[in-house]
Amino acid sequence: MKVIITENYEDMSRKASEIIIDLLKNKPKCVLGLATGTTPIGLYKNLIKAYNDGEVSFKEVTTANLDEYVGLQKDHDQSYDYFMHHNLFNYVDIKEENLNIPDGSKQDLQKECARYSEFLMANRQDLQVLGIGSNGHIGFNEPGTPFDSATHVVNLTESTIKDNSRLFNDISEVPTKAVTMGIGEIMKSKTVLILASGANKAQAVYDTVKKQPNENCPASVLQNHPDCILIADKEAAKLL
Ligand code: F6R
Repeated sequence: MKVIITENYEDMSRKASEIIIDLLKNKPKCVLGLATGTTPIGLYKNLIKAYNDGEVSFKEVTTANLDEYVGLQKDHDQSYDYFMHHNLFNYVDIKEENLNIPDGSKQDLQKECARYSEFLMANRQDLQVLGIGSNGHIGFNEPGTPFDSATHVVNLTESTIKDNSRLFNDISEVPTKAVTMGIGEIMKSKTVLILASGANKAQAVYDTVKKQPNENCPASVLQNHPDCILIADKEAAKLL
């Protein structure tokens, strides 16, 4: 794993966007795995700027998002579909038919998981963007998830529900389940770019980089990936 430590959030976002801008220039028809959450917002702002400056186009890009809450309709302002449209997709020339996010509003979630897995099998990500949970989760693969897992439904842990409650009016509104890309499917991406910002990620970053890969810290599996780049700001890297 290549570890890059930056001065602050802005530098982390800039470095991450440089890597993706390079990919878009070298391979305009790429499969881009994307994440939601607070961490990649700066990266997405930079990508929108690069698009507005005429540096890159998303016309031929296919996306593959990591996860979605179960039970929220796409137009719910905390759904990940809504997040992606409002933080990136609405501001670039990406085609709606090339956007892929697991659909957590489906009645038959097992069928939806199988559909998403098949899509990923046929569309290997060139690069997968990840954030990291304070408990080391990647996507919504919580501690204890097997390293070879495929897309599945998860019960979110107390700590994840608590972390995510900041974005809802009340903790009781946070969905308790989600559909997530599996760890095995994240590992199949040609490149993995994992971002971490802030002191509340410091322990997870330490466990990811320094501990033997183990299921208690899902992100530690990335030590086994042939091309993984971790960009952490100073606060997130403070235990390294
Ligand atoms: C988001 C996702 C999650 C987040 C993680 C960190 O699609 O899969 O793993 O990346 O929970 O979230 P933030 O960036 O909000 O700290």
